[in-house]
Amino acid sequence: MQIERICVLGAGNMGHQIALSAALGGFKVKCSDVKQEVLQKAEQFADNYLKERVAKGKLSAEAAQTARENISFTADMKEAACDADLVIEAILENLELKRSIFAQLDEICPPHTILATNSSYIVSSKIADATKRPEKVCNMHFFNPVLVMKLVEVVNGPHTAEETAETVRAVAEKMGKIPVMLQKEIYGFLVNRIVSAIRTEALYLLDQGVASYQDIDTAVVNALGHPMGPFRLLDLVGIDLAYEIAMERYRLTGDPAYKPSPFLVEKLVKEEWGRKKGKGFYEYPEK
Ligand code: 3HC
Repeated sequence: MQIERICVLGAGNMGHQIALSAALGGFKVKCSDVKQEVLQKAEQFADNYLKERVAKGKLSAEAAQTARENISFTADMKEAACDADLVIEAILENLELKRSIFAQLDEICPPHTILATNSSYIVSSKIADATKRPEKVCNMHFFNPVLVMKLVEVVNGPHTAEETAETVRAVAEKMGKIPVMLQKEIYGFLVNRIVSAIRTEALYLLDQGVASYQDIDTAVVNALGHPMGPFRLLDLVGIDLAYEIAMERYRLTGDPAYKPSPFLVEKLVKEEWGRKKGKGFYEYPEK
């Protein structure tokens, strides 16, 4: 199936960069968010990012101009989705909200439109039956920061048609990404399961007073070659999201091992959610 027009719903932490990656990949993109200020920030980011890439010599002026022409921003979900071949949903991690949005998209979009969710942990089978096109619903999971991270996880739900997953995989490739296919749904997909295992151990070591979070990060960066340690990564991903990911696994399994650590709970309550708040484990003065 040929995809030309993409709608990205949600212009927050992930959505604004998914939209820009798609525009850079040659797709016609409409990026939508209910919050006008979030939308304005996303548009400003696109302008600045493209200018910086040209100034750095990483992008030609023509390619930047084409990408800018490829992307538009609107608060009107209907306008954004009505002619899309693919919708990538990147809104809040709230199942009921996602189900309601997918039901609305099912009404708004043409019958051929694929509906994908960028959720970090909600599998698409929990959403697909809110639509009359479950075979066209799947997970398409990007990584933060999307413009840098190459991987995209495409997850086949039991309801997902092979053609849908294959089309989404091809879109990811055209966006310059490296897609991997999950043949069945599993909580946390591939990467968040692995990241969670490292994070759980890092939080345990901190909790036990074995080392400071700075030294745990230093150890992971300098012994394992990770670009950043688990605490700096928590700040990047968002401690609010990491808490939700841990809580969901705890809810699903009932296993206390997955209960969010007291350090996460403390940061959550203090609203020290990482980069987006200017403070998490580390401080980000520019915010
Ligand atoms: N947005 C866009 N581009 C960014 C960026 C951002 N927020 N931060 C950095 N970059 C770009 C820079 O422009 C630069 O590009 P260039 O080399 O082409 O000029 C490049 O990334 C390197 O930037 P810096 O030199 O400033 O910084 P670093 O070398 O420290 O790299 C990093 C920053 C790319 C964030 C790197 O530290 C990294 O890869 N960290 C690990 C990130 C990671 O693990 N992500 C996955 C998280 S899990 C997840 O997302 C799952 C979800 O479900 C929660």
